[in-house]
Amino acid sequence: MSFPDYAGKTVLITGGAGLIGTNLTKALLKENVKQVVVLDDLSAAEKWNIPNDKRVKFIEGSILDEEIMRHAFSTNPDFVFHLAAHFANQNSVDHPETDLEVNGKGTLKVLEYCRMLKPRRVVFASSGCSVYGSEAPLPLTEDFISLHLDTPYQITKLLGEVYCNFYADFYKLPIVIARFFNVIGPGEIPGAYRNVIPNFMYWAMHGKKLPITGTGEETRDFTYVEDIVDGLLRMGTNPKIIGQAINLASNKETKIIDLAKTINEITENSAGIEFTERRNWDRIIRRRASIDKARALIGYDPKTEVSQALQVIYKWFQENRENIESSARF
Ligand SMILES: NC(=O)c1ccc[n+]([C@@H]2O[C@H](COP(=O)([O-])OP(=O)(O)OC[C@H]3O[C@@H](n4cnc5c(N)ncnc54)[C@H](O)[C@@H]3O)[C@@H](O)[C@H]2O)c1
Repeated sequence: MSFPDYAGKTVLITGGAGLIGTNLTKALLKENVKQVVVLDDLSAAEKWNIPNDKRVKFIEGSILDEEIMRHAFSTNPDFVFHLAAHFANQNSVDHPETDLEVNGKGTLKVLEYCRMLKPRRVVFASSGCSVYGSEAPLPLTEDFISLHLDTPYQITKLLGEVYCNFYADFYKLPIVIARFFNVIGPGEIPGAYRNVIPNFMYWAMHGKKLPITGTGEETRDFTYVEDIVDGLLRMGTNPKIIGQAINLASNKETKIIDLAKTINEITENSAGIEFTERRNWDRIIRRRASIDKARALIGYDPKTEVSQALQVIYKWFQENRENIESSARF
């Protein structure tokens, strides 16, 4: 599908150097945008990963920095995708104050600038894994919010949503909230606070055992980043969804043990798997999101299977091996 609404427009992506931001930037360039402004402090990303195109303006700095924010918003963005975040659960348990600063105050600042500059749409990146808590029935639907969350990150993702609702209701800011689950794809650099797939891929390529924290029977809703980007582009333009929160996911469960086995197969890693204790905050055994709302309202239709996604990720690891080696943050 093509999205003519973005042609000739300026799009600001906070956290644009990360997994989702770099893939969203590539997609926007294909839609003939005038400019993509990538605002990122590189706390969890690398400059080499940002698409190299003269229409990409990279501003290195924090959403907490007034001067940087003035500079970024002086581009007068037509669309703002607020993806910057202190990511994710374990990082927030280890650094709860930074988590609140970036995900709470940082989100508030982005919303304040949006209130002043009035872009035609603001898209906030939330987390369905966060806001539904660990007790919600499957599949996870948009109306089941929990106030008993397991990590500071989950709390500040919910806080971000509540701020968005306030700005939408009180200031009539045209905001939509995208709730992701486990987003996977090329562009995620492995590291201590990163997701399971880049880390498994990295360790498998180093001939190491893949450590499963739990029994391996745990499931997650893994969604390919290009499907997520397609959903985001739809959410950025659809006129009927202002003020709404919508799950962007795959609606499929994958067991961690199957994921580990497939990655060992693809990478020809014979070291196998080892089991360690589940992390003490990790109480969610199974996750599968409903995407009925996304299908009905924005025509979202994710297409990529996890097995296909893993092949693309492996290729990206092979092609960027040197950069990844020097950037992995363990
Ligand atoms: N990847 C997932 O599975 C997933 C799931 C649910 C929600 N989300 C949310 O989606 C968004 C994007 O996720 P992602 O996977 O691309 O994460 P990511 O960590 O790859 O990208 C976030 C980017 O924000 C940047 N950043 C951090 N603090 C900043 C600050 N103070 N100022 C400016 N930039 C800053 C980081 O350097 C990073 O490049 C995040 O808000 C995340 O919470 C992601």
